[in-house]
Amino acid sequence: MTTTSLTHTDLTPRVGSLVETDLPALLSGRHAAELRQILEERSVVAIRGIEMDDAQQVAFARTLGEVESSVVGDIYKVTFDKKDNPIGAATNRATFFWHIDRTDLDVPPFGSMLSAKVLTPTGGQTQFVNTYAAYDDLAAEEKERLDDLKVLHCLETAFLDAFPNPSDKQRAAWQLMPKKIHPLVWHHRSGRNSLVLSNSATSVVGLDTEESRALLSRLLDWATQPQFVYTHEWAINDLVIWNNTGAMHRVREYDPHYGRRLHRTTLLGDEPFDSSKEHVDREA
Ligand SMILES: [Fe+2]
Repeated sequence: MTTTSLTHTDLTPRVGSLVETDLPALLSGRHAAELRQILEERSVVAIRGIEMDDAQQVAFARTLGEVESSVVGDIYKVTFDKKDNPIGAATNRATFFWHIDRTDLDVPPFGSMLSAKVLTPTGGQTQFVNTYAAYDDLAAEEKERLDDLKVLHCLETAFLDAFPNPSDKQRAAWQLMPKKIHPLVWHHRSGRNSLVLSNSATSVVGLDTEESRALLSRLLDWATQPQFVYTHEWAINDLVIWNNTGAMHRVREYDPHYGRRLHRTTLLGDEPFDSSKEHVDREA
């Protein structure tokens, strides 16, 4: 396949690329392979000044891969406004904490894209960690120690960060959500490795509670060091795409009253966290 070389520059040395292009070029699909490649290497692609409607966003997303369709359709509106986000507004606060999307699945989404529609005067920056870089820079002995560890992921743990005093009803609902055990180190098909850390990480299998908490918290501190992080300062019509299999993300706290709204499209993945589950059915 012929690709036209895109103009792109590093946003930080280890994570994120700023790509210069326009809507017709994105919709043509001619940059799709190169964009996937940049996402693989740099975890995040940011493109400024792309004014597009929802149908165009979905059409562009389809050039990159298969788009997830949920009960709200192909576009999910990220906002605290219940009218625009009936299924997620109540738990939107959980996105203020570092996470990988959908650790409740064996096969998480490959990535997502957000386009900025309404912003807040302060806060609301989205931050990304390159989880490949965070793994690569670990000492050799540490890599060896972590290599075969497994971690229990529960959405209840993620929600407790955001809502430390839940009602009995909230707690009971969270406890019904799927729990998964994933490797701490994702051994990708490509031969590269990344850390699987998230606000859903609950305990390390085989370690006692204290050791487990200490390890997860130390690794989170390690992975969120400035050299592994890109912070996106949003402007209207920014389009940001991230590789969920090689990045962790969060949004900085913001005041919900300004109606901040970003439109998200999610690209389905095909690589399980655990390579021994290569043949499980993909869940959408
Ligand atoms: Fe997320």
